[in-house]
Amino acid sequence: MTQTFISRELETSVDGIAVSDGAGVKLKRVLSSSLQKRLDPFLMLDEFGSDSPDDYLAGFPDHPHRGFETVTYMLEGRMRHRDNAGNEGLLNAGDIQWMTAGSGLVHSEMPEQQHGRMQGFQLWVNLAAKDKMIAPCYRGIPAAEIPQLSPVSGVQVKIIAGTLEGVTGAIQGIRTEPVYLDIELAAGCAHDFSIDSSHNAFIYVYHGELMVGEQAKSVSAGQLAVLSNPSLSNGVHLGSSHGARLLLIAGQPIGEPIVQWGPFVMNTREEIEQAFADFRRGQF
Ligand code: CO
Repeated sequence: MTQTFISRELETSVDGIAVSDGAGVKLKRVLSSSLQKRLDPFLMLDEFGSDSPDDYLAGFPDHPHRGFETVTYMLEGRMRHRDNAGNEGLLNAGDIQWMTAGSGLVHSEMPEQQHGRMQGFQLWVNLAAKDKMIAPCYRGIPAAEIPQLSPVSGVQVKIIAGTLEGVTGAIQGIRTEPVYLDIELAAGCAHDFSIDSSHNAFIYVYHGELMVGEQAKSVSAGQLAVLSNPSLSNGVHLGSSHGARLLLIAGQPIGEPIVQWGPFVMNTREEIEQAFADFRRGQF
């Protein structure tokens, strides 16, 4: 017996905004603070991508984080990570770093290349109040260890987090049960991707053009698509006429107040002030 597939639809699409962050790195801010409540537990998504070293060489020198997780996914290039607890790692093309900042750390994220293309993404995932002050930890997954699946001909999926069609992704055990898929659709191909009906979900198209849902609404490269939350949906139907590359990201909403000041994301203003005080006293 086959179950009827009920697809989420395109609720709205949003263009990424050009910003400068770190020591002057040019980025596209895809998910910004105006969507934090709607896309709970996701706080931010940045795309960095440039052939010009001037856009990325300055990198992200020492800066703190508290209260959430950062997920860095490199598509091209190399980035070195170092923190104030002595942790260090190199992210190469295709690698993932899932960093739980928790109670706080100070780190740098610097390009380890002088020329050529650098491209990737950084996603911020919130932590619930009870988890915001857990000890920092890292999970680093090399490209070769990210499970891949081709559910039908012309559809390639890298399962960074979560489970798809019985295949377990590289990252498990995250509190908000996130699904993070890097999907490539060849021209003329389509597939139904399952998503837990209780999750908030969005898509970022980074190449080509995508058609979302049974209504086949078009989303272009550089746009974020917020997916609707119909109560009985099984997932989302995605297709492409000319080919597309995209991230499909979903997670369990936390449902708590979000108070952000730069790299600190807490539940109250008092907790933000405490984060500043602790950071100034060198307690991260
Ligand atoms: Co950082």
